[in-house]
Amino acid sequence: MSHAAEAARRRTFAIISHPDAGKTTLTENLLLAGGAIRAAGEVAARGEARRTTSDWMKIERDRGISVSASVMTFEFEDLIFNLLDTPGHEDFSEDTYRTLTAADCAVMVLDAAKGIEPQTLKLFEVCRLRDIPIVTFINKMDREAQDPIALLDEVQEKLQLDTAPLYWPAASGQRFSGMIDLATKELIQFERRPGEAPKIGAAPRIAGDEATLQANLDESVYGELAEGMEMATGLLPEFDKEAFLGGHMTPVVFGSALRHFGVLELLRTLHAYAPPPRDQKAEKKGEPVTIHAADNTVSGFVFKIQANMDPNHRDRVAFLRLCSGEFKRGMRLKTAGGKQLNIHNPMMFLAQDREIAETAYAGDVIGVPNHGQLRVGDSLSENGDIKFAGIPNFAPELLRRARVKDPMKAKHLRKALESLAEEGVTQLFKPSIGSDMIVGAVGQLQFEVMIERVAAEYNLEVVFEPAPYNVARWLSCDDPKVLEAFLDKNKSSSGTDLDDAPVYLAKNAWDVGYAQEKNPDIRFTATKERAL
Ligand code: G4P
Repeated sequence: MSHAAEAARRRTFAIISHPDAGKTTLTENLLLAGGAIRAAGEVAARGEARRTTSDWMKIERDRGISVSASVMTFEFEDLIFNLLDTPGHEDFSEDTYRTLTAADCAVMVLDAAKGIEPQTLKLFEVCRLRDIPIVTFINKMDREAQDPIALLDEVQEKLQLDTAPLYWPAASGQRFSGMIDLATKELIQFERRPGEAPKIGAAPRIAGDEATLQANLDESVYGELAEGMEMATGLLPEFDKEAFLGGHMTPVVFGSALRHFGVLELLRTLHAYAPPPRDQKAEKKGEPVTIHAADNTVSGFVFKIQANMDPNHRDRVAFLRLCSGEFKRGMRLKTAGGKQLNIHNPMMFLAQDREIAETAYAGDVIGVPNHGQLRVGDSLSENGDIKFAGIPNFAPELLRRARVKDPMKAKHLRKALESLAEEGVTQLFKPSIGSDMIVGAVGQLQFEVMIERVAAEYNLEVVFEPAPYNVARWLSCDDPKVLEAFLDKNKSSSGTDLDDAPVYLAKNAWDVGYAQEKNPDIRFTATKERAL
């Protein structure tokens, strides 16, 4: 098969949801449906096995959250799906954001009783920024749910996204009886057999004509279903693939991930509509270009770095999303900054195991072990001449001064913090005056994770104290002299980030506003696209 044909059968997607909506359960069930794992519970079990080898993830285990994104690949019919797992906790939204830059499509999981929750909204906004098409899965129909019309109204209203149900549920909770496939008009029955684990795709289908439905459904369930369907077909638009691909419409599937119901239908929806690897905007020799999955030359970008997956070997894995060409093991790729890497041991993340990838195509994600040469946002290609639009850094919301308990170890701590900052989840600032190390994070939990990791991986006891600053902004100016003069005048409230880019460190947002007003030629920005 040509590399273009291989790329065309890749579907790379992520799941977005508010914690507890059922992302983990759904992931597991998608892998089951795709035949990638054999029994429910194996994702967790595999995670467990991995975690025992990396103690720093203890915090994840204790809190039941997943801190780091991973990639799982499975086949379904003629397609290959790459599922990018996104951390669910809101403190890790930047990491999630970056993972979404590597996805071509997203599944939005809603809890049928709760509808749109704050984290769903945030993640949705990230998808919207990139016009990522979204398939909606309304989960937990086996529990008492909100009225489906009200749920879809909420999606429409809060997300400004047209909803096109492909299925329609017959009641919910104790009375949940399945859903009508609106294309075939059949009823997919939800069977509740105590003590027996239902199988994915085993739900029987029966004809959806009035007589059959009435004969098989409780009277009140039938009444509700008939009324709901009439409203849905009368009020809601029909599914339009173009509108979906443009990010304006979402097809909706109902189900219960826990009861294995609706999962196969979701997978079929993805199979039918999820797009192949998208075209990517990039720069080549300073000129804007579009990179197509079918292009011959290999290219991709790093959207995540994970260090010390195995604390015994200071390893570092860069997750590279391929955008074009046929990657072959052993290939030499170059960053847009001119660094060369021979990729002898790329990793593919199959659900069962990690294994060496011999070949990979656009849409695939490979793990590139390296010793710190690669950074989040790096573009890699055969000639090093392709530079993808940058993956932004966000200004942290919390700043803390880091101190090591043993003062003799300050240098070690700096190295450790630098190394963690290179993963791109936290940031490290160096004020112009003094030797403080200021760490920035999006949420408090990240500091706790750092304390654990610095202890486990570097054997150092780090303390985070309040910093004299609370806000960081990147500085830029068309005239370097103006910027230099500003930095000179504001030594006590400026510094540099990990890449030596100048930053303004302020007590509060008001200070930033004031400085900005006084220095109109200087840009104070809350995001920075890393120079590649
Ligand atoms: P998350 O990754 O989005 O945070 O959610 P997760 O899958 O961990 O699910 C959160 C809780 O919701 C779990 O219960 C899970 O069993 C339950 N759940 C997921 N899907 C469904 C569903 O379709 N129906 C019902 N009734 N429950 C569902 P838990 O009690 O927190 O954990 P556990 O002890 O069951 O593992």
